[in-house]
Parts: sequence; C-alpha cells; structure tokens
Amino acid sequence: MWFQLSTLLTFTAASLSLASPAGEAIYEQSYSLAARSYPDHISPRPSISCLPKHPFWPPPSPRRRTKVCYVKSHNNGITDDAPYILSALHECNYGGHVVFREGITYYIATAMDLTFLNHIDLDIQGTWLFSPNTTYWQAHSFKFGFQNVTSFFKLGGNDVNIYGGGTLNGNGQVWYDLYAANIYTLRPVLIGIDGLKNSIVSDLLLRYSPEYYHFVANATNVIFDNINIFGLSTSTNVAKNTDGWDTYRSTGVTIQNSVINNGDGKQIFPPFTNILVQNLWCSGSHGISVGSLGQYVGEYDIVENIYVFNISMHNATDGGRIKVWPNTPSALSGDLQGGGGSGRVQNVTYDTFFIDNVDYAIEVDQCYGQSNLTLCLEYPSPLTITDIVFKNFDGKTTKKYQPDIATFACSSAAVCNNIVASDINVVSPNGTNLAFCQNVDTTVLDVNCAGPYLGFN
Ligand SMILES: *[C@@H]1O[C@H](CO)[C@@H](O)[C@H](O)[C@H]1NC(C)=O
Ligand SMILES: *[C@@H]1O[C@H](CO)[C@@H](O)[C@H](O)[C@H]1NC(C)=O
Ligand SMILES: *[C@@H]1O[C@H](CO)[C@@H](O)[C@H](O)[C@H]1NC(C)=O
Ligand SMILES: *[C@@H]1O[C@H](CO)[C@@H](O)[C@H](O)[C@H]1NC(C)=O
Ligand SMILES: *[C@@H]1O[C@H](CO)[C@@H](O)[C@H](O)[C@H]1NC(C)=O
Ligand SMILES: *[C@@H]1O[C@H](CO)[C@@H](O)[C@H](O)[C@H]1NC(C)=O
Ligand SMILES: *[C@@H]1O[C@H](CO)[C@@H](O)[C@H](O)[C@H]1NC(C)=O
Ligand SMILES: *[C@@H]1O[C@H](CO)[C@@H](O)[C@H](O)[C@H]1NC(C)=O
Repeated sequence: MWFQLSTLLTFTAASLSLASPAGEAIYEQSYSLAARSYPDHISPRPSISCLPKHPFWPPPSPRRRTKVCYVKSHNNGITDDAPYILSALHECNYGGHVVFREGITYYIATAMDLTFLNHIDLDIQGTWLFSPNTTYWQAHSFKFGFQNVTSFFKLGGNDVNIYGGGTLNGNGQVWYDLYAANIYTLRPVLIGIDGLKNSIVSDLLLRYSPEYYHFVANATNVIFDNINIFGLSTSTNVAKNTDGWDTYRSTGVTIQNSVINNGDGKQIFPPFTNILVQNLWCSGSHGISVGSLGQYVGEYDIVENIYVFNISMHNATDGGRIKVWPNTPSALSGDLQGGGGSGRVQNVTYDTFFIDNVDYAIEVDQCYGQSNLTLCLEYPSPLTITDIVFKNFDGKTTKKYQPDIATFACSSAAVCNNIVASDINVVSPNGTNLAFCQNVDTTVLDVNCAGPYLGFN
C-alpha cells in the first residue's frame, strides 16, 4: 500500500482483442504474428556469485545446455498455454534451454506439476500470466500441507536454472478481493517449490501474487538472485500475506540482491537450516522473520544457522523478527491459530539493517498470537531461542511503539539464552530509543531496556 510504480506491466487491450470465439485459427495466426515480430533470442545464463557473505554450499555451476526449445503460445491472454509449456519442458528436459519469447504472454489456466525438471534452463523473457479463475485454482492448485499453502505450479528437480528478465503475473486482484470476502479462500502462491536442488532462480519480475511470492519447501542448495517483487491492490482490499519468500523444510538457501515492494518480506519456517539472506531492499513488508514457530502441538521445529546481512527496510512492521507461539492455544485470526509446539531456533544473526519508518527495528516475540502477556508468561513456550545476534542497526522507527524501538519478549528466562544486541543506533521519531525486555539477559543487550510493554505486531 506504500508505493506507486508508473511502469507496471499491464496486459493491453490489443492482445485481449484477439480473444474471439473463432477458435484456433486466429490464435495460431496471432502466435505466428508474434513469432515474427519477436525474433528468436537466447538469453545468456547469468553468472551468479554470492557476495559479500558466502552461502553454506558453493553456488551450483551447471553444464552447458545442448538443445533449444521455443515455447509456443496462443498469445491472446485467454487460451490456456499450459500444454505448450509442458510439452516444451518435456522435450528439452535433460540438457535443454527452453525459451519463452520476449513480448509474448503465456496464459496459464492449468495447474502444472514441474517437479520432473532436470538439467534444464527456463529462459523466461516473456510473461507467464495465471488465469483469474479462482474456482478452478482452489480446486486444482497444489496443496503443500502447511498453513494451507497452495500453488499455481509446483517446481522441483535438480539443476534447474530460471532467468531471462521476464515476468510471472499472478493476477492477484481477484484474489485480494475474494480473500477480503472470505478468509478461507485458498490463495495460490506464485512460485511453489517442492524438492528443488542445486538450482538458481534469477532475473525475474514477480507481480501480483495472490499470496506469498515464493513458497520454498524441501529445497537444497537453491539461490535466488535479482528478483523484483511488486504487487499492489487497486481496490480497498489490501494484498495480504504477500510474503516475498517463505521457506520450509529446506537447507542451503540463499536469497540476495533483490527488491521487494509491497510484499510481506521473508519468513523462515521450520525446519530450516543454513540460510543466507543478503542485500535486499524492501518496502511495505513485515520484515525478515524467523517463524512463526511452535504453531502445531506435537511438532518439533528447528531453525538453525541463519545469516541475514545488509537489509534496507522501509515502511515495514519489523526489521528483524523472531516469532514463536506460546504454550497455550492462541488465535491470531480465524485462519491463523496455534501454539504448543516445541523445538529450537539457534544461531541466527541479523547484521546491518537500515531502518526507515518501521514499527519495531527488532521484535523477539515468544507470545505470538497471544495478546494477553500474563497468559503467555503463565505458559512459557517449550521452543527455545538461543544464540541470536542483532548488530549494526541504524535508522528511525515509526511512532507506533514510541518510545520503544524494539521488543525482546521471552515467555520465560529458561527458554531464551544468549540473545545479543550490539550497535543498535535506531531512534523513534521523537528521539527515544527504549526497548521492552522480558526474561532476557539485559547485560548483553546494547539497548535501553527501560521501555514499556506495548504489544506486538
Ligand atoms: C514509504 O511510504 C511513504 C508514504 O506512503 C511514501 O511516501 C514513501 O515513498 C515510502 N518509502 C519507500 C522507500 O517506499
Ligand atoms: C472456471 O473453472 C471452473 C472449474 O474448473 C469451470 O467450471 C469454469 O467454467 C471456469 N470458468 C471460466 C470463466 O473459465
Ligand atoms: C517434502 O518432503 C517430504 C518427505 O519426502 C514429503 O512428505 C512432503 O510432502 C514434501 N513436501 C512438503 C511441502 O513438505
Ligand atoms: C547492500 O545492499 C545494497 C542493495 O540493497 C547494495 O547496493 C550494497 O552494495 C550492499 N552492500 C554491501 C556491503 O554488500
Ligand atoms: C552459525 O551460523 C553460521 C552461518 O550463519 C555458520 O557459519 C556457523 O558455523 C554457525 N555456528 C555454529 C556453531 O554452527
Ligand atoms: C487450513 O486452515 C484451517 C483454518 O485455520 C485449519 O483448520 C486447517 O488445519 C488448515 N489446514 C492446513 C493444512 O494447515
Ligand atoms: C489475561 O490472562 C489472565 C490470566 O489467565 C487473566 O486473569 C486476565 O483476565 C486476562 N486479561 C484479559 C484482558 O483478557
Ligand atoms: C516520545 O513519545 C512517547 C509516546 O509517544 C512519550 O511517552 C515520550 O515522552 C516522548 N519522548 C520525548 C523525548 O518526546
């Protein structure tokens, strides 16, 4: 809700005017016209390096591809191109380079299982536009079995490179409006990943996702580089839960050099290990969150070895955040409730944040979903928070929690250990820099813990 871009990609009346009941002939004609006006061009595979911090594994270095497939399209913004896409991907799997031509819209009205991909490059120069048929997608999207996550397509496999400078457009507006009317609407995520290994996703524009932009599950050694995210509702219904990346059951994931505008930031769900996030510019988000953890009774969540470096955070609710449900059933909203799960979050560093108009520069919340602090403290979370560092934070918060700029709220001292803050140079609009500190060792917190309890985001 914070940003207006004048250069939004839109789908012009010109391409829609080809939508006629006349059938294939006109679509084929539009396809060949388009093919003539957009000559074949193969994007060179971008060379990606992970700097200044290094990821857990070296970036994948895929071999040269030996075959090229151009994907056909009706290019009319109304006829399903999923069969063309699937056929090109099968044809070029194991060693091919698949080109989605520049200037062409690939309209996708069928859920695509892309977990078969192997040794393949997807060169997306044009646009993938997902159909706005919310009835179809709710019935046929892929279910991930976690927080009701579903997706338009499911991406998996080994040695997959996606790039090309093109756009994935989720047609989110119908979903923002539908969700406002019914919070149980199953909104697909734009990019659903399940079981992707040794792969790089880079140089893409992601627009108008109905929900999260990425849900990354069961991923190993995957890099996201130079991803540009934007989505703004044009109605009064806000684009909710449009997180940039949500990661789950994954290890060795790097997210870097990206811009997230009006998305909800980055969330790290358990179990999640060895993640690097660096050089992001974010506006209108919920910050870089670990959690929510401990949502499900009987589950043991692990989040370990996370490094977050060099984040420019504007107009957001949080900078760095850790959120853990308490050990008592709690409800954040009708479609988000939980509490009682155990586990640990260990060795997480938030290093170098620029804070601009953010509610809390730092929020450690072990009472997630429970606004009644007394109740939260009566039922301390069995999920421990250990070896956490916040350092080199600069900038200014919003007045929402003034005079506080941060909150460190643990449900018991026994379950929070070694939470360290240093070089925190963040002030509220009226110049105060207090923090609320509950059940934490204040001797290792370089903040003024005289702040009042003012609640959570
Ligand atoms: C933050 O929001 C304000 C008010 O909507 C807007 O003027 C400003 O450009 C935004 N800043 C960024 C960096 O997005
Ligand atoms: C939307 O999808 C449903 C279920 O697949 C289908 O019955 C309906 O015809 C579709 N609507 C449009 C406008 O294509
Ligand atoms: C991840 O892998 C596990 C184990 O193979 C599987 O049960 C699960 O369905 C996969 N996907 C997700 C989203 O967890
Ligand atoms: C921090 O990230 C910004 C992009 O947001 C980039 O321009 C800058 O070079 C990065 N700084 C370092 C030290 O990597
Ligand atoms: C903590 O995480 C960092 C990566 O952020 C890793 O380099 C380091 O080895 C981890 N420390 C331990 C004790 O595992
Ligand atoms: C989906 O949401 C409903 C309502 O919160 C919840 O009861 C159900 O367990 C959720 N399903 C999954 C798979 O998370
Ligand atoms: C918060 O919980 C405590 C302990 O159960 C209870 O006594 C108190 O009334 C609750 N406060 C509110 C505002 O609900
Ligand atoms: C800053 O604002 C807070 C509440 O908004 C107020 O309690 C405090 O006295 C103010 N401090 C200064 C220095 O103005």
